[in-house]
Amino acid sequence: MGDAADLYGLIGHPVEHSRSPLIHRLFADQTEQRIEYLLIDAPPGRFQSEVGRFRARGGLGLNVTLPYKLDAQRLCSRLTQRAAQAGAVNTLAWQDGGLLGDNTDGDGLVRDLSDNLGVDMRGSRILLIGAGGAARGAIGSLLRAGPVELSIANRTADKALALAAEFSAAGPVQGRSFESLEDGFDIIINATSASLSDEVPAIPAAAVGPSTFCYDMMYSSRPTAFLRWATAGGAAGSADGLGMLVEQAAESFLLWRGVRPDTGPVLDEVRRGLD
Ligand code: ATR
Repeated sequence: MGDAADLYGLIGHPVEHSRSPLIHRLFADQTEQRIEYLLIDAPPGRFQSEVGRFRARGGLGLNVTLPYKLDAQRLCSRLTQRAAQAGAVNTLAWQDGGLLGDNTDGDGLVRDLSDNLGVDMRGSRILLIGAGGAARGAIGSLLRAGPVELSIANRTADKALALAAEFSAAGPVQGRSFESLEDGFDIIINATSASLSDEVPAIPAAAVGPSTFCYDMMYSSRPTAFLRWATAGGAAGSADGLGMLVEQAAESFLLWRGVRPDTGPVLDEVRRGLD
């Protein structure tokens, strides 16, 4: 005993309100792993030097959040297939003399939908709203879940068309304009940043039917504007992105420690601590 705990952390800007230290502490307690998890706020231009400083302290792995998921990818000597497909890295691991980049966001989303929320994704029709980094990171994982259709719609429709074209070899994906969404989907996922300003993307009400499940990648202590809109529109069910946050963290923890934590009790505890 007496050995120092293994060092991990989250790097981004800003990071001070992050739930990741709590989540990883709960994972570590549950799986009896000795880790320390730091928050690293890297001001613009300081990402690479802060990563270097962390590594010099003996750091073994980092989560990466906005705005550095592309910078992180550039530092890596190796990428997992899902990170290469997402074009972004949210998890770094120093392994085998190199730096491995992974992306656990998309699989965290799918795990939350399918395992925690019981949403049947195989054979489903999915609408993904947004064409920024959050949407891009989800597409590969959503296609691997086996939908018959993945429509990507964006306020600026051209961006949705371009993004869908990039993934056309990976599955049944198509870009759409908001106006073209005239019938109900099985699953609607909001990957826009609209909820940050309490706004709802202007998609037609007809996109929600009585069996539609609506998911907002954002989360807060109260239902987001998108989730309120979904409920008012008669959606069968809805959830915010707190489960995705916990699930992507669990995937990172698995990569670093070789143990998969039980996310259910951790999600409950993190939810209780919101607000
Ligand atoms: P992120 O990396 O979080 O995805 P981003 O790359 O800035 O962030 O992308 C933000 C996304 O949210 C975009 O799809 C944006 O739509 P545009 O491409 O048309 O700008 C979308 N978005 C932000 N606010 C929105 C709003 N009020 N209504 C609809 N879409 C919105």
